Amino acid sequence: MNPDIPLQLLGGLTAREFLRDYWQKKPLLVRQAFTDFESPIDPDELAGLALEEEVESRIVLEHGERPWELRRGPFEEDTFATLPERDWTLLVQAVDQFVPEVAELLEHFRFLPSWRIDDVMISFAAPGGSVGPHFDNYDVFLLQGHGKRNWKVGQRCDSESPLIEHADLRILADFEQSDEWTLAPGDMLYLPPRLAHYGVAVDDCLTYSVGFRAPSAAEVLTHFTDFLSQFLPDEERYSDADAQPASDPHQIQHDALDRLKTLLAEHMGDERLLLTWFGQFMTEPRYPEQVTGETLAEQELLDSLERGAILVRNPSARLAWSEVDDNLLLFASGQSRLLSGHLRSLLQSICSADALHGENLAEWLEDEEAVTLVCQLVQQGSLGFADE
Ligand code: SIN
Ligand code: CO
Repeated sequence: MNPDIPLQLLGGLTAREFLRDYWQKKPLLVRQAFTDFESPIDPDELAGLALEEEVESRIVLEHGERPWELRRGPFEEDTFATLPERDWTLLVQAVDQFVPEVAELLEHFRFLPSWRIDDVMISFAAPGGSVGPHFDNYDVFLLQGHGKRNWKVGQRCDSESPLIEHADLRILADFEQSDEWTLAPGDMLYLPPRLAHYGVAVDDCLTYSVGFRAPSAAEVLTHFTDFLSQFLPDEERYSDADAQPASDPHQIQHDALDRLKTLLAEHMGDERLLLTWFGQFMTEPRYPEQVTGETLAEQELLDSLERGAILVRNPSARLAWSEVDDNLLLFASGQSRLLSGHLRSLLQSICSADALHGENLAEWLEDEEAVTLVCQLVQQGSLGFADE
């Protein structure tokens, strides 16, 4: 993707300009990021998804049994008939995993790494509906899908920002408004992490949130060190063959810290293990139970493709690839595989979720490593056969 082409999605900015001036820095309002936008899902379909066991959904009622009542799905069909006329919101997480037309929207965000994207959350709000003034720790693009929503943005927040007392929702006690816009279908608002925002539905409205993910420093350190420790033998320990006589045996001297720093640096700086861990971590599926494979022999795979079968990425799978020396690493739903460099274009099409079939796989079907890889991805559940 050419980063210097003006994009309608970014209001005519190029990806390079957007990343330089706005990404993680300041909000950007784009009128008509999508011209004549028609929501691929309607409020009834969204409510239907919220009945499903495997879908994460919530309802926020501003004046419920208590202020800002939070109810968690799955919901019963008659739940919606009992809701008031106004001031409530239904939020459904990861709709892109269940509705292919919603997943297609993500194609417009290919100027950002796909492993940074979390999901497309869709909310339906009755007039006045809102989840309150709050901040998120992630970047988000808020695309208006249907109806109108008023967005106010405010101050930069952090974990010290005062919140109202609430068991489940993080609602800001103070909101210092700096800007305000009303968004119509096709308009989009980009918000950097930790910027206070407050969206209130003007009429019945659908809002799409393309949310991003960034592991916290605490997650990086705990998960990476857990991963690393599997490779460290018990005999590798703090060692001090260079020890000097202690002047006070109760004092921890700074040379001990230097030895510890050397030990940490040696392992934390292992780029290959860091890459392997990071790729596995960032491709862990949100719903692992949706990534279940099937038994398949390589010959069965070849026969099916010959009969015209089509392989597609499981919408719940996450895929990424990287280079190590002359080889490639493929990360698929939390697992990694080291592969030879000649498979690069195959990995690119697998990761970009192209449909794979006998024709576009042709040359690869002669390649033993490629066939094994595709077969393993089906066995693991990252790829699956499209319904006939
Ligand atoms: C919403 O769609 O109601 C909330 C989205 C957000 O503020 O993060
Ligand atoms: Co938010």
